[in-house]
Amino acid sequence: MVCQELVTSSTVYRSSYSCLLHLQISGAGHGMGREMALRFGRLGAVVIAVDINPAGNEETFKMIKGEKGKIHKYECDVTDRAAVFKLAEKVSKEVGDVTILVNNAGIMPCKPILKHSEKEIRSEVDINVIGNLWMIQAFLPSMLENNHGHIVAMSSMAGKMGLRNLVPYCGTKYAARGIMEALAVELYEDPRDTTGVCTSFSA
Ligand SMILES: NC(=O)c1ccc[n+]([C@@H]2O[C@H](COP(=O)([O-])OP(=O)(O)OC[C@H]3O[C@@H](n4cnc5c(N)ncnc54)[C@H](O)[C@@H]3O)[C@@H](O)[C@H]2O)c1
Repeated sequence: MVCQELVTSSTVYRSSYSCLLHLQISGAGHGMGREMALRFGRLGAVVIAVDINPAGNEETFKMIKGEKGKIHKYECDVTDRAAVFKLAEKVSKEVGDVTILVNNAGIMPCKPILKHSEKEIRSEVDINVIGNLWMIQAFLPSMLENNHGHIVAMSSMAGKMGLRNLVPYCGTKYAARGIMEALAVELYEDPRDTTGVCTSFSA
């Protein structure tokens, strides 16, 4: 896959491949999403930065523009299914079909299970799990049509082992892994590829 070459080889980005890459990252307005956006921007990808927070996304936009990278920014709440489908339509019209979808947006309230409010738990599941499903449903069709695409989900070590103060979060990160594994099985007979990324903790 082109994207794997882009990630693993510093020489590929100068080839004509890179200009074909439309890399969409949710949660690009901060943290690891922004860092990924910057790094892929440097490799020559067309970055599609998506975030619920326009101020953070604007900062990412300016940083990549400042490095003469290619970036488009969109405000979207990944938990809002209609908004995600509208985003897919807009991106396809204004930028082109997404080649790599990175489901990165996520939250991590950290406290004992009995201290989590209902609202917190519902938001966590909505953003970390359901949002990934809406994104997959909205962006997979064009990948299937083009016979070309890559989907990445940001899981965690908390998706591999239980950790105290992170009971709901661990559940969502195991879920993210399960979704990606099941998607890989479902697409197994196709030549397309899916990726599950398990990160460890970072600051
Ligand atoms: N930082 C870590 O230590 C760590 C470790 C393992 C996995 N992760 C995972 O990596 C991902 C990014 O983590 P981070 O620490 O960079 O997070 P962060 O809080 O720094 O950034 C998350 C971004 O997602 C955006 N966002 C939140 N809700 C959204 C929504 N409903 N729709 C669209 N965007 C939304 C926020 O505005 C923010 O810009 C998350 O999925 C997280 O669970 C993080």
